[in-house]
Amino acid sequence: MLCSSSLALLLPPASSPSLLSFRRLSRLRASPLPAAVKLSPPLRSYGVYLNGALQDEENVGNVKKLLARVFELSLQATVPDETDVEPIVTASTVGRFGDYQCNNAMGLFSKLKGKGGGQFRGPPAVGQAIMKNLPQTEMIESCFVAGPGFVNVVLSNKWMAKSILKMLLDGIDTWAPKLSIKRAVVDFSSPNIAKEMHVGHLRSTIIGDTIARMLEFSHVDVLRRNHVGDWGTQFGMLIEHLFEKFPNIEAVNETAIGDLQAFYKASKQRFDDDSEFKERAQKAVVRLQGGEKRYRDAWAQICAISRREFDSVYKRLKVELEEKGESFYNPFIPSVIEGLTNQGLVEESEGARVIFLEGFNIPLIVVKSDGGYNYASTDLTALWYRLNEEKAEWIIYVTDVGQQQHFEMVFKAAKIAGWLPTEANKYPRTSHVGFGLVLGEDGKRFRTRSTEVVRLVDLLDEAKSRSKAVLEEREKDKDWTKEEIDQTAEAVGYGAVKYADLKNNRLTNYTFNFDQMLSDKGNTAVYLLYAHARICSIIRKSGKDVEELKKTGVLSLEHQDERVLGLHLLRFSEIVEEACTNLLPNILCEYLYNLSENFSKFYSNCQVIGSAEETSRLLLCEATAMVMRKCFFLLGITPVYKI
Ligand code: ARG
Repeated sequence: MLCSSSLALLLPPASSPSLLSFRRLSRLRASPLPAAVKLSPPLRSYGVYLNGALQDEENVGNVKKLLARVFELSLQATVPDETDVEPIVTASTVGRFGDYQCNNAMGLFSKLKGKGGGQFRGPPAVGQAIMKNLPQTEMIESCFVAGPGFVNVVLSNKWMAKSILKMLLDGIDTWAPKLSIKRAVVDFSSPNIAKEMHVGHLRSTIIGDTIARMLEFSHVDVLRRNHVGDWGTQFGMLIEHLFEKFPNIEAVNETAIGDLQAFYKASKQRFDDDSEFKERAQKAVVRLQGGEKRYRDAWAQICAISRREFDSVYKRLKVELEEKGESFYNPFIPSVIEGLTNQGLVEESEGARVIFLEGFNIPLIVVKSDGGYNYASTDLTALWYRLNEEKAEWIIYVTDVGQQQHFEMVFKAAKIAGWLPTEANKYPRTSHVGFGLVLGEDGKRFRTRSTEVVRLVDLLDEAKSRSKAVLEEREKDKDWTKEEIDQTAEAVGYGAVKYADLKNNRLTNYTFNFDQMLSDKGNTAVYLLYAHARICSIIRKSGKDVEELKKTGVLSLEHQDERVLGLHLLRFSEIVEEACTNLLPNILCEYLYNLSENFSKFYSNCQVIGSAEETSRLLLCEATAMVMRKCFFLLGITPVYKI
């Protein structure tokens, strides 16, 4: 439908003098500004003019942003009186509408009409004008207006090839997104001391790590915070039980305690069954909070044992975290609550001190009726600390969706207190990254037959041993060393667990299924890791030194499947930015899967080794492998190079 009224217009070649030839934009070499383009100052958001040259290094690799800059100039020339029109550029989802499109015409037309006029007959005419006013750039091969004024852009093959070659030479980090913030806190994993680290914490660890990695890649300084539950009334019973079982607490260690979760259960049993014990436990909390040495030491012992268990999971998953548990914020709570009280936010209610928030049917309790602090007091204080002491501009919390309301209330209180701006998307800001449940085959909460809860270590062990068995079945142990088998089994096994978690929209529940996640078919880490290894083996088999080819070779995208693959590679930066700013790792997974599909298509239709285009195609293979590896890296997956 949109296509019927489309009109193709080829922009003149960059070198030919033409009315449309305003200046070459994309590589941003200095040339005088053409008189025809009146830039209404200030040139906003996308780059600046310095000594007459548009500085563009900012957005290298981000095609969408590069195009947005070009369209911004065109919009300024088209409607010089409209100073606040942001270019709307999106990737086209349907091939016949070009590679990208600018969607400003419709909105702009209504805006002009609303102001009682404008020289345009309708949105398509606005589209035509935007197209005609496009400065000349080597990025664009051709443009056409479709339907109600979409300006569709076909990128130049030559420019695409050149950009990919430049990335090959300069490295993929030159394609990293540029975000406007400097520092972020990602609060993730955050298990509770002496309680089991369950699959929910596994999800938080995997999703949080990926978000942290994407932000770090985008040059944000990320504080990776493990907000462990290391404070609270449960420590009273744990400590008392510890004293009962081990009168000499110096002798206590993991082996003595054995299973910390069983220990927790036993303490709870004592607490519920024996009122005298209960009383002692309650007193122990007060003595711990009062800082009494014996109690502090016992608490520290229990934390240390848990920590060792958590660390072994992090080590396996290669996840870095810095622990700043709930106890860390404890000393700051009174003054934060006092500040909020002075602002008139805190009220008395049924003996507790609370903040009433519009839109919520329960208040946020900040001091319990017994005078103690709770989860919310700690989270408010941690937020205050992160904003004021750590100067974080974006604070991201990764927990199951069940905690959504808690975070919404904390964020709202912070807005009322004036800690955060009330407008969405303004910094500093907070985001809750919620995720759904992990389900078993039976569709119920994931459990194993033998134990009530699934131990993470056992899960990882099984993933590894299953992938090891496959490697042995394929007789890899004949050619590979023991280490190679082991490392590959780990990369594949742990990668599979991570990818199965990340590939779905995080808000949906997902079913944990080893057979599915370890299958080498379909959208799995195994399939993707194998695809990468296959590309590496093509390059190896060519016998060519790819580093040398990068320096001397030429890349071209003549064949349709080469072009589709090349365009997909060029979308990497904008996809990472999208996944990162929307906090949705599944967007990156989908990109990676499609990349591998596009590669397969290219490889089955374009001969690489021994063809006339061998050099160019090897370079395309290498670029694909590089982008895949960066995706793996961002997803926390270790790539494999042979299969
Ligand atoms: N320890 C909590 C739990 O296991 C998660 C903590 C999340 N972070 C936070 N700042 N509240 O549910």
